[in-house]
Amino acid sequence: MAITGSTGGREGWSSRTAFVLAAIGSAVGLGNLWRFPAEAGNNGGGAFVLFYILCVVLIGLPVLLAETLIGRHGQSSAPESVRRLAKESRASKHWDVLASLGVLSAFLILSFYCVVGGWVFYYVGIFFSDLVQTGITGGAFEGRDPAEIEALLPGLFGNGPLMVGLDLLFLAVTYFFVARGVSGGIEVMAVWLMPAFFFLLIGITIYGAFGGEFTESLTYLFTFEPEKLTGPVMLAALGQAFFSLSLGVAGMITYGGYVGRNVNLAGTSAIISGADTAVALLAGLCLFPIVFAAGLPANAGPGLMFQTLPHAFQSMPGGSLVGILFFIMVSVAALTSSVALLEVPTSWMIEKFKLTRIVSSALVALGALALGSLAALSFNMLADFRPLGFIPLFAETNFFDTLDGVTAKLFMPIAAILTCIFVGWIADQKLIDSENGLSGGLHLFWRFLVRWACPLALAAITIVGIFPDLF
Ligand code: PFF
Repeated sequence: MAITGSTGGREGWSSRTAFVLAAIGSAVGLGNLWRFPAEAGNNGGGAFVLFYILCVVLIGLPVLLAETLIGRHGQSSAPESVRRLAKESRASKHWDVLASLGVLSAFLILSFYCVVGGWVFYYVGIFFSDLVQTGITGGAFEGRDPAEIEALLPGLFGNGPLMVGLDLLFLAVTYFFVARGVSGGIEVMAVWLMPAFFFLLIGITIYGAFGGEFTESLTYLFTFEPEKLTGPVMLAALGQAFFSLSLGVAGMITYGGYVGRNVNLAGTSAIISGADTAVALLAGLCLFPIVFAAGLPANAGPGLMFQTLPHAFQSMPGGSLVGILFFIMVSVAALTSSVALLEVPTSWMIEKFKLTRIVSSALVALGALALGSLAALSFNMLADFRPLGFIPLFAETNFFDTLDGVTAKLFMPIAAILTCIFVGWIADQKLIDSENGLSGGLHLFWRFLVRWACPLALAAITIVGIFPDLF
């Protein structure tokens, strides 16, 4: 039952805090903890980080506000919310394509996101068995060769059935929360797990600050070297900002649909993007001191969290315990995001086919399991399968990378551009103004960003993403 003001009779968040925590839970995930440090390390540190912050403020935040206001106005699933706003603005109802594309993207991202979530569960298990053997004070994997630790990930990748089983496990936990409903499941999870997550993140960061190379990490992450700010680095930063804030997949439209009328959306959007960015930066400050202290490189990319970090925990006192806490924290963050990803298509199915929540979420989860299994097998048995091999952009990509590429390079930016055009130009501006909670100069600035800066910047990433050789 919603008590954040009326949500049109639908089930909604029980308080503004619940919405804020759930939205932060959706935003904070593998994107912050796994992808951000890897991207920062691969793209030269400071230049990437500072440009990323600029993208969050000037592009991410305005689009976040645009998405939540569509949802709050419509009080429905994402496509229906767009249709309502379009109808009241006397615009074509076909603008709902922006949300339908988002629903499809959320489903595709869910499929491969849970595969990575499964790897995180696997590492919780690995550190748990290590903790049992070494005890609380021992370093991780005592007496084992570092090459053996790094080989754990390729070992997992080589085992198709295990990868599918882990994917299933992660999806099952996600399903458990979504099937219980907005206030009974998703919210309960966010309200309990997000504070636990922050506690762990700050604890491990303080631990790294005392035991690791904190100053070196600060310099690495925040020294601005203009010559490193190349086109690809800027695009990587913009793409990361979008993924991290869960934009372009109708996720924030869906969550906005459960928000009551009395919540100030501009202020809430600022809190959500501020918290998401703070977590990404903290993740960098949590990870790099530990990695640098072990004398390991910063640019290990996706392997940074799964290979470099476990290796680094080896030389730390209490590394086994810190390791398990770290991967539990990543599991929590990943789950609050996968829950949002499952909720987007679920809420659409409930409305469209008049199914119950339990059945809708089960059907979506089964579909995600089917695609996710193919994604998991693309690291082993289906390594040579190129699902979109006939399209030059995806000629070389396996199933997992195709799901990622199609959503990140095509669907998400296109949906976000359409959102900006719809909110900035097409929708009745009086309705928009009544929802956004802005006034004066800030309001004019937001409108300028949504009308011009955001769609143009997004069009740039899409074009460069599709035609990388043009530039
Ligand atoms: N923002 C999440 C992350 O950073 O891991 C990923 C994500 C979650 C994207 C939910 C989209 C979404 F709807």
